[in-house]
Amino acid sequence: MPVNDNKKAIISILRKSEGTPVSGQEIGEKLGITRAMVWKYIKALRKEGYDVRSSPKTGYILDSCPDKIDPEMLQSILKTTLIGSDVHYYSELESTNNTAREIAPQVSEGTVIIAETQKSGRGRLGKEWQSVSGGLWLSLILKPSIPLENLSRVTLVAGIAVTNALRSMGVDAHIKWPNDVLVKGKKICGILTEVSAEIGKVDYVILGIGINVNVKLSELTDDVRRNSTSVSNEMGKPLDRTSFLASLLYELEQQYIRFKTRQFAEIVDEWINLSDTIGRNVRVKTPAMLIEGKAIGITEKGALVVLDQNDKKHEIIAGNCRYSD
Ligand code: BTN
Repeated sequence: MPVNDNKKAIISILRKSEGTPVSGQEIGEKLGITRAMVWKYIKALRKEGYDVRSSPKTGYILDSCPDKIDPEMLQSILKTTLIGSDVHYYSELESTNNTAREIAPQVSEGTVIIAETQKSGRGRLGKEWQSVSGGLWLSLILKPSIPLENLSRVTLVAGIAVTNALRSMGVDAHIKWPNDVLVKGKKICGILTEVSAEIGKVDYVILGIGINVNVKLSELTDDVRRNSTSVSNEMGKPLDRTSFLASLLYELEQQYIRFKTRQFAEIVDEWINLSDTIGRNVRVKTPAMLIEGKAIGITEKGALVVLDQNDKKHEIIAGNCRYSD
């Protein structure tokens, strides 16, 4: 067996033993290699960040794995049929959205591009997205048959999925219109939706999702750190990113199925329940103007409805929203 396959097999044996020591003899017999070879692989794995304890009397125990996404593990725990049916994993990319855009026409719906770090992560409104190690930086390619004017709906669906996935981990997440996910007012996730469309009909959508999972806040620049948080910061311990990714993809699939099969009003209701924007005083900057007032609802197109001081209603489809209360 090639070196890497042997290392993977050892990790898989130790993972399955769930803390019960496995002897070098037993591992060697399973893989058809000597105990000395097993020991050589264990030393190599330690260098890669796997914390393998060894006792000459009982055997090896896997105490912890390096904080890396494990695509093979993901495939074995993923409960989806469409979202994540094809996962392209990279150590580093310029931007997962760029790579997704390059391959989108040739790949099937549900394909996910994921990178440990991004050199030029992109945020909304042309901003940089700091993508240091420890985060989940991914792009999901969707091919819904919808008119371009309904594109914002897909972003709302993604915001719901991320928020539900975070809440299932015990993180008190809320959505801020249009697509930020906040915890106690600090940003934990951003979503960048990009599209290719022809004659008003969507060809493919790229949902770029950035979640500060185990990001160390000290690695962010001062201005970004001030308004950011991470899952590990909220929970006081790092999270297994592979398991979290599996539950996020599951949530995305559930929400996407609902999006395709149910009335959109149902999704609007859930979005409002999960959001902390409705009822707040906001200042929304659009390319054309600045609108100030109270956020009172969301339309079926995903536009924020703001009631200004003169009781005039504005439906804002895109813009930068700040709370002013
Ligand atoms: C925002 O400004 O809030 C949106 C941030 C989106 C970041 C994600 S990370 C994965 C994907 N690739 C990118 O370059 N951007 C998105």
